[in-house]
Amino acid sequence: MIRSVVRGIGSALPRRIMKNAEFEGMVDTSDEWIVQRTGIQQRHIAADDETTASLGESAARAALASAGLTPDDIDLIVLATSTPDNTFPATAVNIQNRLGMQHGFAFDLQAVCSGFVYAVTTADLYIKGGLARRVLVIGSETFSRILDWSDRGTCVLFGDGAGALVLEAEESQGALSDRGLIAASLRSDGVHKEKLYVDGGPSTTGTVGHLRMEGREVFKHAVGMITDVIEETFRQAGVTADDIDWFVPHQANKRIIDASAKKLGIAEEKVVTTVQLHGNTSAASVPLALSVAAADGRIKKGDLVLLEAMGGGFTWGAVLLRW
Ligand code: UT7
Repeated sequence: MIRSVVRGIGSALPRRIMKNAEFEGMVDTSDEWIVQRTGIQQRHIAADDETTASLGESAARAALASAGLTPDDIDLIVLATSTPDNTFPATAVNIQNRLGMQHGFAFDLQAVCSGFVYAVTTADLYIKGGLARRVLVIGSETFSRILDWSDRGTCVLFGDGAGALVLEAEESQGALSDRGLIAASLRSDGVHKEKLYVDGGPSTTGTVGHLRMEGREVFKHAVGMITDVIEETFRQAGVTADDIDWFVPHQANKRIIDASAKKLGIAEEKVVTTVQLHGNTSAASVPLALSVAAADGRIKKGDLVLLEAMGGGFTWGAVLLRW
């Protein structure tokens, strides 16, 4: 059988770092509140010349360099984003052009904060279906552009950035010990739309709109939904929490991450947490966290890695892979 194996990884962050204290003169908040309730200490904010496409391109170039590949080696680009450069064409096609690719195909995938988990499973199916041998899977976001900077309930939570993986087809026996994507579980439920959405769009207001969130409501659902899809993924693969080497969750709130890990019985030292550095970067959060843990030597070839995300829609999902 064919497995989709991680061949390279990269990331990109805007130059400007915004610390919590900078919000204190803008809205009624404090560094203490933000740290206590979310774990966030800082986030990166894109300048005018930094966009979802430019950050995505930088992350893609870094992933290609780490794989020892060039854009010529890539067949498909799947970009997870909810903050595209334009309504159309897809920002993935813009990135394809920026990389100088005049072959293959590219498209955007929109599942908000679960976008990267959806994109990895989508890329896996294109690889298994034989339509692509090597895929750049990118999560890139500029949420700073859709924030209401006068709403303290949301503006302190999000940040900008991008991360990318190169997935490559590899012959496998399909064993748990073999490298590549092993199992995945995806869910969505539109009944929760009003709890986390953007109040604009081409077909309704003709504007881009701003992010609106009932934070407490999202929080209430998050841990149960996350742990449900992870348990389903464990069942598919025949593993338990003890088998996991690294848990790389969506980075929205440290309290959600800690509660999910505790409910699943995943030891604290196996949890990769970067929310303190990046805030919530939506579809970029999982690949950014993966990049940090791969770069500092925690995630190594052969490790069993569990990814998870949950966000607007609601959408949620989990992926289990052997690094
Ligand atoms: O990535 C997509 C998924 N998104 C998430 O996972 C986000 C999920 N939600 C959360 O992370 C949390 O609900 C928040 C961080 C958004 C809020 O934390 P919370 O502990 O649920 O606080 P809360 O919404 O219950 O608000 C507590 C208080 C309220 O004041 P009152 O009504 O008790 O007087 C809020 O108005 O905190 C107030 N508050 C703030 N205070 C200072 C809300 N935002 C702020 C703020 N600074 N930035």
